[in-house]
Amino acid sequence: MDGTLEVLLLGTPLMRIVNGQGPALQESRVEHVGDVSLLSAGWREMKPDAEAVREWLEHLIPEGEASTIYRERAQHFLKMYGEANVREPDVAARIWGNADREYAGGVSFRALDGDGREIEWDAPTLEAYRGWKYLADVLRRADYEVTNGRRHLDWDPKLGQTSLSGMKGKLGVHLEEDMEGGVWRPPRPADGLLSTHIVKVEDDPRNPGEAAMESLVQTTLKLAGVRAASTWARVIDGLQVVVSERSDRIRTPSQGRIGRRHQEEWAQAAGVGRREKFAFERMDPGLDDLLALLAREGAAGEVEKGIEAIGACVLLGHTDMHRKNLGIRHPRLRGPIRLAPLYDASSSSGRAQWITRQLALPAGGAETPDAFGAEAAGTLAGKTTLGAEEAVRIVKGMANRLQDALSDAVRKCKVKDEVGKAHGEAYEARLKALETDLARRCLGLKLSNAA
Ligand SMILES: Nc1ncnc2c1ncn2[C@@H]1O[C@H](COP(=O)(O)OP(=O)(O)O)[C@@H](O)[C@H]1O
Ligand SMILES: [Mg+2]
Repeated sequence: MDGTLEVLLLGTPLMRIVNGQGPALQESRVEHVGDVSLLSAGWREMKPDAEAVREWLEHLIPEGEASTIYRERAQHFLKMYGEANVREPDVAARIWGNADREYAGGVSFRALDGDGREIEWDAPTLEAYRGWKYLADVLRRADYEVTNGRRHLDWDPKLGQTSLSGMKGKLGVHLEEDMEGGVWRPPRPADGLLSTHIVKVEDDPRNPGEAAMESLVQTTLKLAGVRAASTWARVIDGLQVVVSERSDRIRTPSQGRIGRRHQEEWAQAAGVGRREKFAFERMDPGLDDLLALLAREGAAGEVEKGIEAIGACVLLGHTDMHRKNLGIRHPRLRGPIRLAPLYDASSSSGRAQWITRQLALPAGGAETPDAFGAEAAGTLAGKTTLGAEEAVRIVKGMANRLQDALSDAVRKCKVKDEVGKAHGEAYEARLKALETDLARRCLGLKLSNAA
């Protein structure tokens, strides 16, 4: 009577996994029915073993305590479908019990019962949108539960849910038209209504001005020519949030429908666990290994784009650039990968001391943004065929235009962003700190020479 989880990429089945219990996934439970190398850039050269599959899937469900919701719902359905003694559903069973949710990238799932029949889920109701206040209430609850040890990720159970990783309370929302006056709806994946944007609470009084800072850094990156998600700061019913346009979703203009694009977190492509985001948790792989992956599997020019992106982030003091804040974007079918547009990029400039100034992963050996000179820039490309001189030239080029990009972004954000009362002053102070830090780092870099 075991249920089976079918894993689909852009609608095509690639794997079938029989549900189990406990942390491990046994080899005999995984059946490959398609080319699984399309799922992950890390699987291009080998067929992943069951442990690699488990680790990859685990990145798709919420971290830590938040995954309780997934386990409980899975247990509920496992019991309903006749499996007695369900104690600790494994990761496949957890997704199986939540297969009607919307997942990141191009992946979706089908849950099959013990007789191989697809499980029919409760249809979401049509009372989709109950206004801004409702949205803010759901987000407040999400935020409360993050702070208090358990995270609430779903809308009303009848409205469809989104599975998102990360540490902050957040929701996927479907936005008709654009940010200026469009209507927001909860996604209803069962009806093909996918989310287009991610709304994340950034209202922590210990870290004021953060939403505006994230939007500013994302905008600066874009203006400096780095691929980065379009991002806005907004105040919803008094709650300060960041809105990010999903780059793993695509609008087909002819049908006005939203489709999936395949994207995975670098942690997935790198085959590391979800608690191995930072160098202090695990040293390898480093940013030089990410560039090596782009050299091996990436489109022409991707190593250069990667160096530019990393260089810009370090100079801006985006210290939280860890293995789950960098993504890999896949082509529609077979073909070279790209670095996904950056998300969750901010700056630690002017932040209260409790947040670390140390880079999540050292960049060319530099452990802080201030230590990032020409020598570090040259070392970054050490595992690719791109010479150190070329890497230094690219990063220095970025340093030459980053300050102008920041000035332009400041003007743009004044118009497009909403900054709440509690955050405005802190943001202004942090902006000043960022301008000073950036000027110092850019000058230092330009004057420095590689060994
Ligand atoms: N614009 C985006 N496009 C696609 N995926 C995104 C985007 N923004 C965030 N994500 C996904 O959602 C996850 C959580 O979002 P993030 O902003 O990093 O939240 P947190 O601050 O909690 O880490 C990311 O790790 C990434 O997988
Ligand atoms: Mg993140």
